Amino acid sequence: MTASRRSLAIFPGSFDPITNGHLDIVGRSLHVFDEVRVAVLVNAEKQPLFSVEERVAIIRQAYRGNRRVSVDTFSGLLVDYAKKVRASVIVRGIRAISDFEFEFQMALMNRRLSPAIETVFMTPAESYSYLSSRLVKEVFQLGGSVTGLVPPVVERRLRDKYGPVLGKKPGRSKGAA
Ligand code: PNS
Repeated sequence: MTASRRSLAIFPGSFDPITNGHLDIVGRSLHVFDEVRVAVLVNAEKQPLFSVEERVAIIRQAYRGNRRVSVDTFSGLLVDYAKKVRASVIVRGIRAISDFEFEFQMALMNRRLSPAIETVFMTPAESYSYLSSRLVKEVFQLGGSVTGLVPPVVERRLRDKYGPVLGKKPGRSKGAA
């Protein structure tokens, strides 16, 4: 009897920086697939906060010791990368209906380019449904707390970038002590 191939799913994105919403999607993917490869897009057009190397190092740190999660970079077409690493599934997170239209377009375009590769959509925990890398950067830059929204390594790296910013605690409702 031949051993069956381990299933590999790619989780592609910009991850500038990775958030707990992304980690949530990776965790859910690990319930379905043997391995998840977090694939960071090398995109020369965007002006990222963290370089690709920094983003990869952050994600590696977040998954240190987890042999089922690997991190890589890719450029060019995602489906070409998927073929190269012999992955047949692309995982994408959908937080809200507003994500759906763009994700649906991408999934159908990717299917047209490479019919054998499936896109699987996953929804993160409700508590992350409003979370995005963009908002994390904005909130942190303006002195708000991102604790609980990103892994500790991201908070450290944000502090390294911006200096020891205020570090406010998350807001409390009116009247709270
Ligand atoms: O985190 P993001 O920025 O929403 O991720 C977008 C990403 C990286 C998944 C998407 O831009 C992508 O796959 N780019 C690679 C280029 C490509 O394959 N384009 C055609 C797909 S429609």
